[in-house]
Amino acid sequence: MLVDGRSILSCLMLGLDAEDRDVTSIEGMADGARLHPLQDTFADLGAAQCGYCSPGFLLTAKELLDKKPDPSREEIKEALSGNLCRCTGYIKIYEAVELAAARMRGEAFELPRESLYGLE
Ligand code: FES
Repeated sequence: MLVDGRSILSCLMLGLDAEDRDVTSIEGMADGARLHPLQDTFADLGAAQCGYCSPGFLLTAKELLDKKPDPSREEIKEALSGNLCRCTGYIKIYEAVELAAARMRGEAFELPRESLYGLE
């Protein structure tokens, strides 16, 4: 959840604390039926499996890219470090954020072949 544009863990905030604040849920990232580029890219790269952690990663990544459109891998790792995934591992998630950022900047971005097709 984003509150006033900042990612928070929903378990740490009571509903009353959100009064008069701008709250964005994962559903609020999309523009109607059109997914946010981060959502599209997570799906394209298989950066989610069960999806339990995905809202936290996606909203945190959105906050990062809103503030810094061209983050380094280390900045992505640091920004997402408060989120845990028990399924996917983190490489696909980092790559999805990098690719989404490039797509949002209108730049071409080549992922390593093994990111798309696995090791041969
Ligand atoms: S995709 Fe299952 S916990 Fe992250």
